[in-house]
Amino acid sequence: MTHFIIAGILVVVTAVLTYLGLNALGLMPASASAQAVPIDWLWNWEVIMISFLFALIVVPLLYSLVVFRRRKGDTSDAEHIEGNTSLEIGWTIAPLFLVMVFAYLGAYTLGDTRRVDPQAMIVNVKASQWTWSFEYPEYGFTSNELHLPVNKQVLLKMESLDVIHSFWVPEFRVKQDVLPGRVTELRITPTLIGDDYKVRCAEMCGTSHYSMEQPVIVSAPEDFKQWAEISQAEYASAQTPEQRGERLAQIYCFSCHSPTITPVAGNIAPVWFGLFGSTVELQDGSSVTADEAFLLESIVNPLANLVAGYQPIMPASYGTLLGESEIKDIIAYIITLK
Ligand code: CUA
Repeated sequence: MTHFIIAGILVVVTAVLTYLGLNALGLMPASASAQAVPIDWLWNWEVIMISFLFALIVVPLLYSLVVFRRRKGDTSDAEHIEGNTSLEIGWTIAPLFLVMVFAYLGAYTLGDTRRVDPQAMIVNVKASQWTWSFEYPEYGFTSNELHLPVNKQVLLKMESLDVIHSFWVPEFRVKQDVLPGRVTELRITPTLIGDDYKVRCAEMCGTSHYSMEQPVIVSAPEDFKQWAEISQAEYASAQTPEQRGERLAQIYCFSCHSPTITPVAGNIAPVWFGLFGSTVELQDGSSVTADEAFLLESIVNPLANLVAGYQPIMPASYGTLLGESEIKDIIAYIITLK
């Protein structure tokens, strides 16, 4: 009996210390959405349970190892135990019960994160290798940054233009796969103003999967409105092919190609600055002049002219993703970069 009391106390102490230790690690980033609240609540209960079960297994094990170790000179056999029916029933029923409780809590929490606000603002999200674009149908423009007003639910209607991607902003907690040929939805109510959130892709989607991240900005409703109206006006006034091309490039191209002399991180793709009219060395040893025909072919059939020093990572989907006139606009914009 004394052993049970001592071991019991040790289990409780170890469980509390394990819980405090795990919490001190700071496993979660800031909680910044209404959907994060039930998820963090469930997570906390799971950490409590994990800490308790860890202590329940490790403490009796170590306690027995130390207290009931073989004494010096003791060569007798240990007691022979056939089994213990009530113990076996107990350690079958108790975990089953716990798993069922957490299944219920999990389902309930999932329902909580999907609660529908009929007033939600809609943003159409397009994912492609390796970029995100965000269309605001209320305002009629597309951005490469996701701006959200605080304390208002947003309904993301997401579709992939090529392979499977996954929309994930860790501070919002919720995550959703983005599939080709099917619209998936995600509801987020941001609760914390901030401009250093990032959407990441959480599904291995090819060579530059790691770089598929873009800014997410949560602002006060009036700041959001101002941004949306300015973007809307800019969008409507971008009349020349060069202006339209720059806007398209911001959305589709700048995660790999740089419009300045400084390449993007990792120098994964040729810079555009000074590209037009220059002599480009190809991987097969030949060289070509970067004229309009070369730029066009490089966009619609990127594997035809592999530039020396770069991996063949450019997706072949831009030829179908972008319309003919959009590609012309982008080329017109590239020509201005010198
Ligand atoms: Cu898209 Cu990983």
